Amino acid sequence: MHMRKKKNRDARLLKVDGLRVRQAEPVPADPSVESREPAPGKVLLDESFAQKGDLYLEIGCGKGTFACETAKRTLSEDVRLLAVEMNIDAMLMAMEKCASEGCANLKFLNINAEKLPDVLPPGSVSRIYLNFSDPWPRNRDRHRRLTSEKFLQVYRQLLAPGGDIRFKTDNRGLFDFSVESFKQNGFEIAEISYDLHSSEWNEGNIVTEYEQKWSEKGFPIHYLRASLSQ
Ligand SMILES: C[S@@+](CC[C@H](N)C(=O)[O-])C[C@H]1O[C@@H](n2cnc3c(N)ncnc32)[C@H](O)[C@@H]1O
Repeated sequence: MHMRKKKNRDARLLKVDGLRVRQAEPVPADPSVESREPAPGKVLLDESFAQKGDLYLEIGCGKGTFACETAKRTLSEDVRLLAVEMNIDAMLMAMEKCASEGCANLKFLNINAEKLPDVLPPGSVSRIYLNFSDPWPRNRDRHRRLTSEKFLQVYRQLLAPGGDIRFKTDNRGLFDFSVESFKQNGFEIAEISYDLHSSEWNEGNIVTEYEQKWSEKGFPIHYLRASLSQ
């Protein structure tokens, strides 16, 4: 997503600072102390956010419509969402939306998804949402797609047993690529539709910014849920 640097960005970021989680400074581990702290270099999510219930991720949250609506409809103290976005200007808009709408149990992390294993413990995530990920249509850019092998290996490490990935896109090329990529990287396709909005999976569907834009133009929305093969 191309986005201009926001006016007064630093001051605006400070105002919503409480909604962010950051990477902790690496601290030397003391092997004699049994600690609930994450391993050195892991993100220190604050207690209430990190240490109980399920953690969901949305990767590439854009301006935050999906994350905020998910917070209102489905999140709770026991199910929290960490919205990951590498574009700080998009993430600023998402955080401002979250603040103005009073969304609870939702926090934000400004990082490239490929770095997630450096900051989240293995097996700590129970669901990953990939919504309208950039298609990178040129073959030579395929390693940048969020459903390419490199990223699926990242998600494998992060997901807890029984965890899954929910992926939506209007882009048929990216979708076909992703179906194969999930299968080749040890995931099972548990649900699939080439027209989500007229399918059995549409109930409770939360529409994203891109989903609204492309479905209004008449494009069908493709959807799949992939779970780890046993
Ligand atoms: C096409 S937009 C979709 C935004 C939103 N999910 C929606 O459906 O409206 C894709 C978003 O993913 C973010 N993104 C792309 N690659 C990423 C990565 N490797 N790590 C984190 N965010 C990424 C982009 O910055 C952009 O905001």
